[in-house]
Amino acid sequence: MSSTDKCQKIMELARRRGFFWQSYEIYGGESGFIDYGPLGALLKRKIEQKWIDEFVRKEGLMLIDTPIITPSIVFEASGHTTYFTDPVTTCKKCGRKWRADHLLEEKTGESFEGLTLEELYKKMLENNVRCPECGGELESPKFFNELFKTTIGPYSENVGYGRPETAQGIFSNFKRLYELARGKLPFGVAQAGRCVRNEISPRQGPIRLRELTIMEIEFFFDPENPKCEKIFEVKNEKLRLLPEKLLLDGVTEPIEVTVEEALKNGYIKSEWNAYFMVKAKKFVEMLGIPSEKQFFKEKLPNERAHYSTQTYDQLVELSRWGTVELSGHAWRSNYDLKMHMVYSGEDLRVFVPYNKPQKVRRLLVEPNKKALTKDFGEEALRVSRLLTLTQPEFIRKSLDENGFYELKGDGKTYRITFEHVNLKEVEVEEKGKRIIPNVAEPSFGLDRLFYATLEYAYSEKDGRVVLKLPRELAPIEVAVFPLMTKDGLPEKAKKVYCMLLDHGFMVEYDESGSIGRRYARMDEVGTPIAVTIDHQTLQDNTVTLRDRDTWEQIRVKVEKLPLTLEKYFREKVDFKDLAKLC
Ligand code: GLY
Repeated sequence: MSSTDKCQKIMELARRRGFFWQSYEIYGGESGFIDYGPLGALLKRKIEQKWIDEFVRKEGLMLIDTPIITPSIVFEASGHTTYFTDPVTTCKKCGRKWRADHLLEEKTGESFEGLTLEELYKKMLENNVRCPECGGELESPKFFNELFKTTIGPYSENVGYGRPETAQGIFSNFKRLYELARGKLPFGVAQAGRCVRNEISPRQGPIRLRELTIMEIEFFFDPENPKCEKIFEVKNEKLRLLPEKLLLDGVTEPIEVTVEEALKNGYIKSEWNAYFMVKAKKFVEMLGIPSEKQFFKEKLPNERAHYSTQTYDQLVELSRWGTVELSGHAWRSNYDLKMHMVYSGEDLRVFVPYNKPQKVRRLLVEPNKKALTKDFGEEALRVSRLLTLTQPEFIRKSLDENGFYELKGDGKTYRITFEHVNLKEVEVEEKGKRIIPNVAEPSFGLDRLFYATLEYAYSEKDGRVVLKLPRELAPIEVAVFPLMTKDGLPEKAKKVYCMLLDHGFMVEYDESGSIGRRYARMDEVGTPIAVTIDHQTLQDNTVTLRDRDTWEQIRVKVEKLPLTLEKYFREKVDFKDLAKLC
């Protein structure tokens, strides 16, 4: 089966059996949006629930749920109004708009993330990149901000945006969440929810969406005590990595290293990120994607998001779209909390006490409000807050050496001179210090996880589709069939169906068509077990259980059916061992 065939077959199955399809089909469809059908919606929720189980329940994180619509100030603070951009190019002939770096990638097979607009245009010309629709020449690219803009309230000047990530809902609640964590670091907060990104020209079905579900964790830790207390649990785990150091040496294949080696060699800079990368690898394995089909690739500095100090993408191989990112693992340093302090004026630092009070000499930088107002006008208050959050020694060193200090924040640089600040050295007794926590962020794209799960489950046997979904993800767990629609078999089968529903299983009853066709229908939507009621059932109250993957059958007493299925679904007993147990 060629890779294009496989993808086409999955798309066809997804439409026909109700997993997903393009939204607004009756109006010709809208790129970048998909609808989940009855089976897709169940599968998607099961993957989300598995994520909550693995990352929230087992890791003891807090789960929150914040709005999609967000006031503009939040994304001004986070930097998204400035940096959340991609390069767009317009066809000179037909006027269609395209994502410039993606066209170049399609043409050359190389990645061109993070180039300047000039570099990108030069490469486009060198490679003769043309409009994919009409073959026309393309304009030089411009940056397009992908935030979805709206106004909050009627006739309102109050600009809002649809969130492109759930993270800001967590950062803007930091103070409250820290209290709920009983004022202690480290702690983590998770959120799964819809996000919107006004992608330029999405042409990759479920892989690049304008409305998507993101599941992310913001894990807060003390930068001066960044040790992950659980690193020993994973230190011997192997990760397939393609770190920046090797990428810059021209290496293209991932290396396999233990977590301990990855940290020792500086491939992964934060222990908490390393810990969550192992969790992510295992989580994706639980979806049916083997570890040898996954690897983590570090983003080069010019490819990283504006908030990131280090980022690894978790990539998997997909038949049509090559290596695709399923999750990103960013070390966001203190960027977001710091910027929310600057914009909100709230102190989001946390107090870390010393064992005993210490007398220390401190350099203080006092902003000179008058001079700041004179030079920075309305931005003076923001500059003043930014100054008080900057290491005073950096400011003094630069002032002494250059006569100015370049204060960087919210996408701008402010030139600070001696007139703007008073520098003072004082001796103080301190009981502890206030720090801005650092953040490790594992962030998963649920729609991509969903598609990858389908693709890795897809198989064919004797010319038929068998969707080998992991049993706990199957949208329908058990199918119940009467062998025939006579002799009281449907009545008995409906009783078995109702009994299994009462025991909490997701069950489907089906009596139409031959038994072979009914098995086939269940195999192609990934139902692991089919229960058939036949004439023998009426005599000895036993039913057959059929395994989706091997097509083997065993007989089980009706009264033992719930327990048998419990063992199969909850205790993960192999099908072949069920007969012995019951
Ligand atoms: N929060 C991760 C992202 O925006 O991709």
